[in-house]
Amino acid sequence: MPEALSEEEIVKVLEAANWAPSPLNGQPWRFLIVTSADLKTRISQEAERCRKWALEKSGWKWLDRYPLDFLKTVPTIIAVVGDPKKTGVDQFMEDGPMGYQQACAAAVQNIHLAAHALGLGTLWFTLYDKKALREILGIGPDEVPLALVLMGRPAAPLAPVPRKDVREKMIYLR
Ligand SMILES: Cc1cc2nc3c(=O)[nH]c(=O)nc-3n(C[C@H](O)[C@H](O)[C@H](O)COP(=O)(O)O)c2cc1C
Repeated sequence: MPEALSEEEIVKVLEAANWAPSPLNGQPWRFLIVTSADLKTRISQEAERCRKWALEKSGWKWLDRYPLDFLKTVPTIIAVVGDPKKTGVDQFMEDGPMGYQQACAAAVQNIHLAAHALGLGTLWFTLYDKKALREILGIGPDEVPLALVLMGRPAAPLAPVPRKDVREKMIYLR
């Protein structure tokens, strides 16, 4: 079984998350630290259900081969839970409360960066139905489980996933 993370590692990573920017500094996040084998099993069952649903819905063949065993063996899963009321002026705008989601995404990114700096490996995971995850993790209707971040010690260094040349994405408006 992969080695558990220390309390110190978890706190360091979540401190970085907590420094993310947010509308009106509302800090619209909570972090649930899942280490229970039972909860990990239930999360993996929900992900499996969601994988099959997504395969049927999309027809994407890769979903047929997408393994989910890592959800049971990963030492720590951080659930990043957002509060839509803790958002900014965006709540009055056409698309509704989006600022809190963006803030939580920044917190997730900080988790990845801090974990990487500590030599840990992470995965941003969203293959679940929010209602099902609320039930599994005991989250009320006022909060949204926006992301799971799986965190552990990498067994071996991974090659980076490639990107397009940034110049293809750059547009100067001079
Ligand atoms: C909003 C969001 C949702 C994601 N959901 C998943 C997911 O459910 N499962 C997964 O394996 N990766 C997920 N990812 C990770 C992406 O697959 C990954 O970032 C991308 O392939 C690039 O790889 P890299 O981040 O390791 O460079 C997600 C990333 C984001 C930003």
